Amino acid sequence: MSRKKIIAGNWKMNKTPSETAVFIKELSDKVNQTNDIIICAVPYVCIPAALKASKRSRIKIAAQNMHYEDNGAYTGEISANMLLDLGVKYVIIGHSERRQYFNETDITVNKKVLKALKSGLKPIICVGESLEQREMGVTSDYVRYQVAYALNGVSVEDLKNIIIAYEPIWAIGTGKTASNEQANDVCKTIREALVEKYGRRAANATYIQYGGSVNTKNAKDLFGMSDIDGGLVGGASLKTEDFDKIVNYNK
Ligand code: PGA
Repeated sequence: MSRKKIIAGNWKMNKTPSETAVFIKELSDKVNQTNDIIICAVPYVCIPAALKASKRSRIKIAAQNMHYEDNGAYTGEISANMLLDLGVKYVIIGHSERRQYFNETDITVNKKVLKALKSGLKPIICVGESLEQREMGVTSDYVRYQVAYALNGVSVEDLKNIIIAYEPIWAIGTGKTASNEQANDVCKTIREALVEKYGRRAANATYIQYGGSVNTKNAKDLFGMSDIDGGLVGGASLKTEDFDKIVNYNK
């Protein structure tokens, strides 16, 4: 089973709507040759500008978070329906920065995943261990636990609409990438967990990305590993020349 690559830029809290319009226009010309799936996850307020600028390009636009309720007294929050109404198709859920700074838990991650799927958004679910957990030797167990929790209640049909991003916390924004083997091993562990729950066929069709200091130099080797289906790219997705090189890793 051959899977395409999904290469997603996670802009985090960077760029204004005006900067977004310029950036996406510039990037569109560069990435239109690839057959892979290219996503930019932009700040909420940049979504309209990003969608407009990406209209005639291959770039898909994602949100970086959403709430699990439809509406109500949740000051500052954004619902799945609001994103869908704009035309967004993907949403990052459970990024480690949301877990670390905004009290995101495995419970809220699961609620958001179920809501996203029910609404018709494709969640990019982030999992990954801390440095302490890696050093204690519990990476596999911990990541399996996170995946099991996030996918609680997700059917085999819905599995087609999810992407899992393995992002070791110690590699995010640190310039310290997991080795190709370390990254692939955990992606493989995640796939095995999916095999146990959903069967080999469904597991083999699921996209599992690696994230954590992906850059122009390591992208090709990482994306060439057996169980890594592309990347979730933070810092290096903020410059068109870098993201262009990562997207066109094969050239
Ligand atoms: P980084 O971020 O590429 O800057 O390490 C990755 C992420 O947080 O998704």
